[in-house]
Amino acid sequence: MNGDTNIHFPQRQDSPATRFSSRLPGFYELGISQRREIIQEMAQINGQQSENFGDFSTLNAELVNVFIENGIGTMALPLGVATNFHINGHDVLVPMAVEETSVVAAASHGAKLVRLGGGFQTSSTAPIGTGQIQLYPKAEVDFDTILKNSIEELMIHAHEGQQRLLARGGGVRDIRWRFIEPIQSLVIYIDIDTRDAMGANLINTICEKLSKRIAELIPCEMGLRILTNLCDKRMARAHCRVPKEALKNQEFSGPEVVDRIVNAYLFAAHDVYRATTHNKGVMNGIDPVVIVTGNDWRAVEAGAHAYCCRSGSYQPMTHWWKNADGDLEGSIELPMAVGTVGGVTTLHPTAQAAIKLLGSPSAQALAEIIVCVGLAQNLSALRALASEGIQRGHMSLHQGNIRLAQREKH
Ligand code: MEV
Repeated sequence: MNGDTNIHFPQRQDSPATRFSSRLPGFYELGISQRREIIQEMAQINGQQSENFGDFSTLNAELVNVFIENGIGTMALPLGVATNFHINGHDVLVPMAVEETSVVAAASHGAKLVRLGGGFQTSSTAPIGTGQIQLYPKAEVDFDTILKNSIEELMIHAHEGQQRLLARGGGVRDIRWRFIEPIQSLVIYIDIDTRDAMGANLINTICEKLSKRIAELIPCEMGLRILTNLCDKRMARAHCRVPKEALKNQEFSGPEVVDRIVNAYLFAAHDVYRATTHNKGVMNGIDPVVIVTGNDWRAVEAGAHAYCCRSGSYQPMTHWWKNADGDLEGSIELPMAVGTVGGVTTLHPTAQAAIKLLGSPSAQALAEIIVCVGLAQNLSALRALASEGIQRGHMSLHQGNIRLAQREKH
């Protein structure tokens, strides 16, 4: 790559509106150091600040360029390990990449409480993702009969060229459809077992392929062909019990804390403002594990929040109740589209190390671990909120941030 690509970037001026143009034709063709030089000059940042775009660490310049376009570096996040997780009778160390103070400590604390009740029990469905093929049938087409008679043929067609998926035990599991009257559109759902891959590319590829055959069967105008992130056939669940004695603190007895945590859950179940924050706390646990394993946290977020709306009102991701012995029990159930092979998970050295640290789980097992972390995180937040409040613990951990910020100022 040479530096003679024809890039025009006007000099920076004081007014933000005219500072520079963000039109950078050819930028994508440059090497990373050239891109850095350009943005350094444009934004008038110094060499040290430019260095702060990343020393790449385990992610080298080549990988950055493979993952995204116009790469100039990396953005590092602290990576910690949550302890105390005991899941289905086994101990697990959980890597978490997150910038928020107290998240790793809170996950570990929640897991410690659950451990006293025997640990987490989990379950999950097969890793089935769903694609949507949307079309507008020409009037008078009996698409129901056509599709019923074509399911088998469509499945065979979808599997052509997918020998590796079939060999791994994956493949199309179901083809179903519904007609959306208000927009006169037929939507065909393709349920695909993607095994240990998250499978977004696979699902999209199969949707596009099948859509061509479907257009031959049903005279129509074709609409969208894309996976849905509301993957409610790909569910992960976890359950836990916390003995009441484990919850007592200086202010409240164990049974009182149980009641207060259940009340905090009920608040979230009846108030969307609280449910949103409650669920943010759950995602505090989930996202860092999704990120460190190289998975798509936007997909997981979108699916999780949409699933919370399935009753028509936005609901908490977890449930908490008092059992017959007066102990606290909790559960979580979420769609969890994560993989342990393919894409960034395979290519990113840190993601690979994280997967290894987790014991090289299958995609289903990883999904189950992730919801346990969400449940532990939520337990920890509710326990603190329902007794001393979160600021005491949070601020003591946050002191380091404040000290550093002050040092930066001076
Ligand atoms: C902060 O990141 C998360 C909490 O607000 C969650 C909650 O309120 O349940 C503490």
